[in-house]
Amino acid sequence: MCGIVGFIGQANCNVQEVLIKGLEKLEYRGYDSAGIFISDQKGNAQLFKTQGPIAKLKEIVNFDSEASVGIGHTRWATHGAASTENAHPHQSNTRRFTLIHNGVIENYQELKVKYLPDIRLKSQTDTEVIVALIEKFVLEDNMQTKDAFKKTLSLIHGSYAFALMDIENPQVLYAAKSKSPLLIGIGDDFNVIASDAMATIEATNEYLEIEDGEIITLTRESVMLERLDGSIVKRDSYQAEIDHNDLDKGTYPYYMIKEIDEQPAVIRRNIQAYQNEAGEWDLDLPMLEAIRKSDRLYILACGTSYHAGLIGKVLFEELAGIATEVHLASEFAYHPPLLSEKPFFIFISQSGETADSRQALVKVKQLAYPTLTITNVKGSTLSRESDYTLLLNAGPEIAVASTKAYTAQITILAILANRIADNDKIDLGHELSISAHAIESVLSQKEKLQTWVQSSLKKSRNAFYIGRYVDYYVALEAALKLKEISYIQTEAFASGELKHGTIALIEEGTPVIAIMTDESTAANTRGNIEEVKARGALNMVISMKKLFKEQDDFVIEDVHALLTPLVTAVVGQLIAYFATLDRELDVDKPRNLAKSVTVE
Ligand code: F6R
Repeated sequence: MCGIVGFIGQANCNVQEVLIKGLEKLEYRGYDSAGIFISDQKGNAQLFKTQGPIAKLKEIVNFDSEASVGIGHTRWATHGAASTENAHPHQSNTRRFTLIHNGVIENYQELKVKYLPDIRLKSQTDTEVIVALIEKFVLEDNMQTKDAFKKTLSLIHGSYAFALMDIENPQVLYAAKSKSPLLIGIGDDFNVIASDAMATIEATNEYLEIEDGEIITLTRESVMLERLDGSIVKRDSYQAEIDHNDLDKGTYPYYMIKEIDEQPAVIRRNIQAYQNEAGEWDLDLPMLEAIRKSDRLYILACGTSYHAGLIGKVLFEELAGIATEVHLASEFAYHPPLLSEKPFFIFISQSGETADSRQALVKVKQLAYPTLTITNVKGSTLSRESDYTLLLNAGPEIAVASTKAYTAQITILAILANRIADNDKIDLGHELSISAHAIESVLSQKEKLQTWVQSSLKKSRNAFYIGRYVDYYVALEAALKLKEISYIQTEAFASGELKHGTIALIEEGTPVIAIMTDESTAANTRGNIEEVKARGALNMVISMKKLFKEQDDFVIEDVHALLTPLVTAVVGQLIAYFATLDRELDVDKPRNLAKSVTVE
């Protein structure tokens, strides 16, 4: 979703380049228009914005003074179409104030009617109302800029990360956040703000968190954090641990395939990260105790992370013997089910910023139940607001379609579930290593999968995945992967359910991909495969060595029954990748999608 970068420094800092590079690093979040506003130290300033990619923005940026300050934005349309008028930055009527925004202002129409009845806006965005309001308070009520900004913030309902410039004082950059991500980066004679440290990591690796409700005043030499009531906040900075190489595709054509290939290494990294020198699993004891004391686990997540949660349920129930429910965060947030007496909540989120999950966390915190977040992003909102955090250690995931974060989530869930059991139930380090090898074997057979995809999915408008138990949960994830990047309408069904309705959709040539690693139901799934075959379906059967039959198309190595999702999911990821390549679509940036979904 929207990305924010701001920079304030010396005159010779090449601000436009820093901003554009930063926006390029935020491209992964998904966007449909982009813009920057830059100024020199005297306030000679210019606004550049356009619909479409950052490459297009680059072509129009032409500033002949030495910019020392600026703000840049990538917009993922919420209020109003994806157009140049709606692209950020937005300016006040006199153009004194310029604002960028990530989030949704729920009461912008009420604010417009109440405070700005005579102002004609140029865009359809909620953001333009906010910058107009700041100007109104400055010009009509004689407020100082910061006070006008604070007053405006106090009137807002919704989510925001803002960066504000007042061209009458180009030595200062203002920012504020509530429920949308924003960080301060500290440099030597410059300071930055960004939605994600990735955007500015080339400039600095020292960062400061901003909490909701804080307002920031940045100059090139100073950073001031204060609350809306004026009280000053002191906070220590931290070093962002981002490896520059992780942000680069290297020789890969797409991030997605690089990230798919990284999965065995991520599993091994997590074995190391969660074991001590003696090779024993080493997890936070108070967290384990809190989980052991609970009578039921509730996993809350969205999309791919929700699918990992479904595997988590199997792991917790089978390895730790704790009843577990999995809920979509967006549903739970407003209509929670009846809860057990001593629930423990686990949030799974690659980004740690997903608004739906965050809203559910707000609800759970109101009820004062213990919470754990499993996330890839240290210091992310969900991590900060939960009692405990387990990191995915997957490295930045840049392709919009989640791959290595999903398998890392399953890995961490397995480590946790196994640790909750009084004695580790299985030799998990060993089993995970076998799974990493099995993934490597899948990765070495890419051509085979590509050939199948070319012969079976090239012209398909729809496809089905089927499976039972864990295979069904992986089928849900594999179907999401295929539909979100190749746009082939793909649905997943529990194999046994087909005959209860869906089989009506099967016709000559319909691709049906069966995942079959669950030993206890393999024979039933084979029966279901025959049923769709008899109606003309074009089958692909993914099985495991010990269940292999001559007619199976793709066979994974034998791994522990609870860890097969780590391997079969990779087959699904590759099918989606090759189907998308075949259609000559952008694998990493599917239409309409955003990586970090910071609005509900
Ligand atoms: C799909 C995908 C999404 C995310 C979902 C939740 O490939 O990545 O479905 O899983 O938007 O995001 P996080 O995990 O960041 O909370």
